[in-house]
Amino acid sequence: ESEMIDQVRDIKHALGERLFIPAHHYQKDEVFQFADAIGDSLQLAQLASANHQARYIVFCGVHFMAETADMLTQVEQTVVLPDMRAGCTMADMANLTQLNQAWEHLQLRYGDTILPLTYVNSTAEIKAFVGRHGGATVTSSNAQRILRWALAQKKRVLFLPDQHLGRNSAYALGIPLAQMAIWSPTENRLLNQPHSDLKIILWQGHCSVHEKFSLENIKQIRQDAPETRIIVHPECSHEVVTAADYSGSTKFIIETITQAPPHTQWAIGTEMNLVNRLAQQHPDKPIRSLNPNMCPCLTMNRIDLPHLVWSLEQIEANDPVGVIQVPAQVSEQARQALTRMLTI
Ligand code: 13P
Ligand code: SF4
Repeated sequence: ESEMIDQVRDIKHALGERLFIPAHHYQKDEVFQFADAIGDSLQLAQLASANHQARYIVFCGVHFMAETADMLTQVEQTVVLPDMRAGCTMADMANLTQLNQAWEHLQLRYGDTILPLTYVNSTAEIKAFVGRHGGATVTSSNAQRILRWALAQKKRVLFLPDQHLGRNSAYALGIPLAQMAIWSPTENRLLNQPHSDLKIILWQGHCSVHEKFSLENIKQIRQDAPETRIIVHPECSHEVVTAADYSGSTKFIIETITQAPPHTQWAIGTEMNLVNRLAQQHPDKPIRSLNPNMCPCLTMNRIDLPHLVWSLEQIEANDPVGVIQVPAQVSEQARQALTRMLTI
């Protein structure tokens, strides 16, 4: 491993400002240590668009994030994903064929009363659909704000692909669960009988990592260590978010833990690499995962030190692999959705 560490250091030194390595907070420490910038998905999107000098952007995160970076950077900049298998199971739960079918069905039923919104955890094609239909992307840190904006434009919102972020954000705005319905992309139908004043149509997608936190986990902690404060990501289910003490984006979780008084105890419902890192950074605040059997995000973890070394070597040899290049038309329409989000 120390040999690989030296290799990364040497290549970073040789390429200087021509190379930029952004890394998501869920990345493994062995990769995270080399990041030129760290952040949640919104911060990384903004950082990528602000960097104009790097020739190569080696994105340590998952596929949809690298696509977003490609769409927000200049044409002469090359975005590389060190392992093409680093996808996102949630993003894979919505494809364009399914969305076209859903849209057709919903238009017949509700006419022109729906605005689509998509979580950034979605493919460029889904973002492009949303962009060309006047909608916007959202992240976990601005979902409520963008949802409020969308409901000021149209009577209803189709929220993709994470039903939990959609439900939790809408509920936080005061929309009752009865005014929400779930769209099944596999059965191609609404799963529940919608209220006559339907406001939110939730795509039936989820995050396989955050869905593993349960009400049982919360009950156990409340029983074993009642003084523990529980904080969760809004990709967790509605019952978990409601029973927790706090919920919010990756950025919110990091800020809350950092600013918490010493000796406060925490149980965190989010990805394991981040929970472990927070525990190391705050030894004065006992921190544990809300789920003791928690697994990391397996696709995020595909980016490891050997893959990072390999992709940097290929760049040094002027033969980059794992290049992410979104087709021009898709990129243009998806950018409309991203830009709308950044200006709302
Ligand atoms: P944020 O970084 O926007 O909080 O998203 C969490 C996540 O699941 C990223 O894949
Ligand atoms: Fe996708 Fe969930 Fe992994 Fe984030 S944590 S990349 S939403 S599977």
